[in-house]
Amino acid sequence: MKILIVYDSRSGNTEKMAYAVMEGVKIAGVEVLLKNIDEASVDELMNVQGLIIGSPVYYGLPTAKIKAFIDDSVKYHGKLDGMVGGAFASAGGIHTGAETTITAINEMLFIHGMIIQGSSGGSHFGAASVGAPDDNVKETCRKLGERVAKLAKKINN
Ligand SMILES: Cc1cc2nc3c(=O)[nH]c(=O)nc-3n(C[C@H](O)[C@H](O)[C@H](O)COP(=O)(O)O)c2cc1C
Repeated sequence: MKILIVYDSRSGNTEKMAYAVMEGVKIAGVEVLLKNIDEASVDELMNVQGLIIGSPVYYGLPTAKIKAFIDDSVKYHGKLDGMVGGAFASAGGIHTGAETTITAINEMLFIHGMIIQGSSGGSHFGAASVGAPDDNVKETCRKLGERVAKLAKKINN
């Protein structure tokens, strides 16, 4: 059982979130592979049971590199059906595109047939930060990783 976290980050904010998401996956006792987008390959998708994508908000959407990764993943279209997904984003402000970025990632993962669990306890769509994550956001990121990993365990047991 393994979860892949792929993130883009120019100034380090999304990267800090990615490390907290990774901690959450580990708390659930699941193996995790953390990849900066520049090192990530869609071929990893064949060896994992969950995919969590993190992006800075660029004009209200994920970065072009994240979109290119998803576009490359067409190579495995149909093979990711039923995999667990999740998303997180760092924005420059409040109400300036974090939710649209997260939902854009979720929408792309839906097209792969992935299963995305919302959250009733706040941060309904994923995990969002304004700039660098503070302790509260890091906790939200950990919870995201933990929930994705736990759901992947349930589905793949
Ligand atoms: C090209 C570009 C476009 C951006 N567009 C937005 C935006 O639409 N809304 C927003 O809140 N922040 C925007 N930002 C700010 C980044 O999302 C923000 O600084 C983020 O924390 C950067 O994450 P990083 O440190 O992981 O690179 C933009 C930044 C860049 C470079």
